[in-house]
Amino acid sequence: MTYLVAEPCIRCKFTDCVEVCPVDCFHEGPNFLVIDPAVCIDCSLCVDECPAGAIFAADELPPEYEKYLALNETLSQSWPVISARADAPEDADDWVDVKEKFQYLQTA
Ligand code: SF4
Ligand code: F3S
Repeated sequence: MTYLVAEPCIRCKFTDCVEVCPVDCFHEGPNFLVIDPAVCIDCSLCVDECPAGAIFAADELPPEYEKYLALNETLSQSWPVISARADAPEDADDWVDVKEKFQYLQTA
């Protein structure tokens, strides 16, 4: 089992989650974060930290976010580790309640 970052993080990227992770398994892309499933120790501390509600246990992932399992696995292999909180995008609050943000995901 692992925890995963899903669609609500896209264009929000608040980074509160990285502050609590004891094993630094978050990786940062241009407008989204992912978790390395091979490093996550399933502590669940990050879940309640995310203002966007973007983090889920893999076995409780809503069906509409199924593709984020593979995205966390693959993107965490190429994106750098982020272990300290950073400023969110200026318009992050405008994107919290927006649905279907996959089209905005930047992978490079
Ligand atoms: Fe890190 Fe724990 Fe969240 Fe896994 S569940 S990403 S180990 S804080
Ligand atoms: Fe993304 Fe939530 Fe972390 S918006 S960066 S998963 S705090």
